[in-house]
Amino acid sequence: MNTDILEMIRWNEMSGHAYAQTKKAIEDMGSLFKPTNSERNFYMPSENNEWTNGMWTGEINIMYELTKDECLKAKALEHVDDFMERIMTMRSIKNHDMGFLYSPSCVAAYRLYGSEKGRDAALKAADYLISRFQEKGEFIQAWGPIGDSDCHRLIIDCLMNIPLLFWATEETGLEKYREIALKHFNTSIHCVLRPDNSTYHTFYFDPDTGKPLYGATHQGNRNDSAWARGQAWGIYGSALAYRYTKSGEAKAVFQKTLDFFLEHLPGSVVPYWDFDFDDGSDEPRDSSALAIAICGMLEMSDNLGDSSLREVALKLLPPLYEMCAVKDSSLSNGQLLHGVYCKHTPTNSAKNRGIDECNTWGDYFYVEALMRAKNPLWQAYW
Ligand code: GLY
Repeated sequence: MNTDILEMIRWNEMSGHAYAQTKKAIEDMGSLFKPTNSERNFYMPSENNEWTNGMWTGEINIMYELTKDECLKAKALEHVDDFMERIMTMRSIKNHDMGFLYSPSCVAAYRLYGSEKGRDAALKAADYLISRFQEKGEFIQAWGPIGDSDCHRLIIDCLMNIPLLFWATEETGLEKYREIALKHFNTSIHCVLRPDNSTYHTFYFDPDTGKPLYGATHQGNRNDSAWARGQAWGIYGSALAYRYTKSGEAKAVFQKTLDFFLEHLPGSVVPYWDFDFDDGSDEPRDSSALAIAICGMLEMSDNLGDSSLREVALKLLPPLYEMCAVKDSSLSNGQLLHGVYCKHTPTNSAKNRGIDECNTWGDYFYVEALMRAKNPLWQAYW
């Protein structure tokens, strides 16, 4: 058997399990959504009121694209109604997570099914996102009330929210979205990237002058450590910025953040939740960080036509599948085991949540990686 056929059999096995898991979760969630993370590997049905809900809809959209199962399309469109209601009523909206929420759900529904409601909801979300832009410091404020001086900061995760703004400019012809996306991107990369190519999770600014103050962490192990998922947001976020801007700076940031990530992966491949930890550690891993990084690499290899980068990314997928993918629905209704949402340490401000559990974004980026592995021409929702 040649290697292409072997790879195809492997891919069919992976996507077969993924489809079964999506169907199982649809049955279990009913008209509600997956919550941020599982408990003992099972998600319980939850309201659409977290930053992660769009990624549950995104998982359904990807599985629809792969299988053309009409029940999935119907479910995804049902979700669009809820996302429209959410933005109209500003229910659990007051943060920067508009891209995570509205790109894989509503932008996707517009592209895949021609949903005008999806388009309108996503544009409303983009309008709200630009309202969080801080002129002093030139960044989009992550959390907290606008104008609250304790909250005058950005976080690296927001690189995944700004593609919604690039999309909004393409869709409407209005430059205001793209201008803010570019300013936020420039500010972010000049603050969060360290000389050794690791990244800060969050960066504070002086609320009176906008002067960059200092980097810190919320979810990493230490202020100066490299939180694995933050590093992965940097990889994928800069690959997406490159797609929309073709800027040499975005390409350089992609390469630097990726170099650090790959150089610090453990021999067992799936990273621990912070790069402070390596093989032999008792700390949990964060499978979602690897899924995100694979997607970022596949995005960039498509942008650059770089087949060797694609090869590196595709080599990471089987170990992720072996160690983390769910292959038996009686053990979990998620896709990807062994993620970490937040782990409290003496020096971070996070509370313990979703430790060694499935999480909605890990599930989403895993199925996105499967889609990208199969179809390099896939049009991303971001
Ligand atoms: N964007 C929040 C997280 O990655 O946990």
